[in-house]
Amino acid sequence: MSEERLNPLLLCFEGRSPFANRMAEQGDFEEVPVGLHRFPDGESLVRVDARLAGRHCVVFCSLRSPDEILFPLLSVAYTARELGALSVGLVAPYLAYMRQDKRFHSGEAVSARPFAHLISNHFDYLVTVDPHLHRYHRLDALYRIPATVVSAVPLMADWIRRNIEKPLLVGPDQESLQWVGAAAELANAPFILLEKTRHGDEDVDVKLPEVANWRERTPVLIDDILSTGNTMSKTVRGLIAEGFAPPVCLAVHAVFAGQAEALLTEAGAARLVTANSIAHPTNAVDLCDPVLHALREHLKTRR
Ligand code: R5P
Repeated sequence: MSEERLNPLLLCFEGRSPFANRMAEQGDFEEVPVGLHRFPDGESLVRVDARLAGRHCVVFCSLRSPDEILFPLLSVAYTARELGALSVGLVAPYLAYMRQDKRFHSGEAVSARPFAHLISNHFDYLVTVDPHLHRYHRLDALYRIPATVVSAVPLMADWIRRNIEKPLLVGPDQESLQWVGAAAELANAPFILLEKTRHGDEDVDVKLPEVANWRERTPVLIDDILSTGNTMSKTVRGLIAEGFAPPVCLAVHAVFAGQAEALLTEAGAARLVTANSIAHPTNAVDLCDPVLHALREHLKTRR
């Protein structure tokens, strides 16, 4: 058998995600752990203990806490190429830095752009799940490499159908229409959108529309990113104040920064449910199959 026919290598940062282990089990990959050493001065050193020459390599790395992992990630890609990898792709189920897609104040970085530039310089292709596409409508407006966006919506809609009897889907802001509208159609449920005003990192206000017709339904909040939890907790409080049953909070990316979980529980959320793009105890929607499918499509073009 020639080396090019060997299964692709799936390079995974040790301990960062059970998702990668599932992918390796289900796909035809050889899983290789990436060793990550932190020196006392904060520098890092990566090591891949496998022969990479002549192999297609896929690096799996979800990008929560991106500043911690970005240099090791780029370093792995650089080293794989230096050691003769045929191709180096990136599977990043959560893609960071998509929300700073505009210069909100003079002199600020539009972080989505330098981040995309670095990733595009080091990888041949990208597979991700529901990146926060707001002012940029497509990833190829930012990324110079082929990029596949996997949608978590069908799986989230399926979760709703199986678990909630009479749901009312709730989007916390107008941009959530892309997820909420599609999920509502698939789950055959009505939806409402709120108006959100963000005053700061942890300071948001939401305004509910007229909800009188829906009070007998269970609200299911849907958002792409659950970060500090302020958006969802304000929404939960607003709905409970309007006489709704405790809402279910459903998010794609379980960032859970700071005290998000406590904030949502105190606000009265009945249940927190997330997809597994970021490993978290609330994961209940498994993205492995569609991500694997997208990855296989990229790899087909490289055989
Ligand atoms: C931003 O517009 C996103 O879609 C989310 O609504 C936002 O990231 C949630 O952030 P937080 O949980 O910090 O309110």
